[in-house]
Amino acid sequence: MKALVLAGGKGTRLRPLTHTSAKQLVPVANKPVLHYGLEAIRDAGITSVGIIVGDTGNEIREAIGDGSRFGIDVTYIAQEAPLGLAHCVLIARDFLADEPFVMYLGDNFLIGGITGPVKVFRQSDYDAQILLTKVTEPRFYGVAELGPGGEILSLEEKPDRPRSDLAIVGVYTFSPAIHEAVRAIAPSARGELEITDAIKWLIDHGFRVHSHLVSGYWKDTGRLQDLLECNRIVLEGLEPRILGSVDGLSEVTGRVALEPGAIVENSVIRGPAIIGACAKINGSYIGPYTSIGAGCVVENTEVEYAIVLEDSTLRGVSRLTYSLIGRNVEVTRSEGLPNTHQLMIGDHSRVQVQA
Ligand code: TTP
Repeated sequence: MKALVLAGGKGTRLRPLTHTSAKQLVPVANKPVLHYGLEAIRDAGITSVGIIVGDTGNEIREAIGDGSRFGIDVTYIAQEAPLGLAHCVLIARDFLADEPFVMYLGDNFLIGGITGPVKVFRQSDYDAQILLTKVTEPRFYGVAELGPGGEILSLEEKPDRPRSDLAIVGVYTFSPAIHEAVRAIAPSARGELEITDAIKWLIDHGFRVHSHLVSGYWKDTGRLQDLLECNRIVLEGLEPRILGSVDGLSEVTGRVALEPGAIVENSVIRGPAIIGACAKINGSYIGPYTSIGAGCVVENTEVEYAIVLEDSTLRGVSRLTYSLIGRNVEVTRSEGLPNTHQLMIGDHSRVQVQA
């Protein structure tokens, strides 16, 4: 069995970060989302992995390399434009050959991994298996409607009026029958070859399509709130470790990982939280569910429920929450009068300030 990991796409919902970098490499608990997916694939016993890349291909190649670090063997497949999930299967035809495969959306996160569903598929004679989970806002997802016996009645991509609250999780397993389906379908109204249409084609042509309700936790990290939530869940299971230094005036409680070279002075850190290598925390409060990237400087600041990427500076800011801060960013207090907010912000950014 092989794996096809989708790491192209536009990532419009995580702009401006995705103007400059791949959304699959945004860190959760200081580790890129994509790493978790590749580890889950390896843990399911799959080593031959094709990765679809788009505009951010170089960055993905640099981060993942030949995959040996993860115990997998990676083949990169370039997609000329984000033409849809089924288009990814189409262009991976040679790589996939006639083997069954798991298709994994590179920005998805399945706590508990994929070993269970992959095992079920391997022991079955299904042509496709989709995983479903209940969500509160189904219109943002692919949605499945099930009949009384669990059979799939309809599949719709991001419907205005969802027929159920069952979202399709971004991990699919297919037999080679899917290749005929992706060749047979036409692009949707939004111009993409939809995987939901390909799966519908399989159902309509008498192939065995199975749906499986997942109890494990799933997040599509393409949106800010889901990314922060994912960060929270991973930090809750964090292995506490203090590899940096903490001075006598500081208080560190709860699950906290302090990476080598990190320095905490005159500060309160209340976990779950992770502080990256060589970060400097001074006169600050780092609250629960916060990931501070390597090399960051946090001074006289209060921050919680946030992700801060590498080499950023937060100085004199109180109080930052529900935030995603990119690399090499500076957030500082403006001194003197008038009492103003002074901003220089990239395109498609979102800032909320207290009036
Ligand atoms: P989506 O999140 O559906 O699409 P997107 O990346 O364009 O994001 P946004 O809605 O924020 O603009 O894609 C799911 C995953 O599949 C994601 O990791 C990107 C990847 N993908 C491809 O590799 N090729 C494609 O043609 C598409 C549509 C997505």
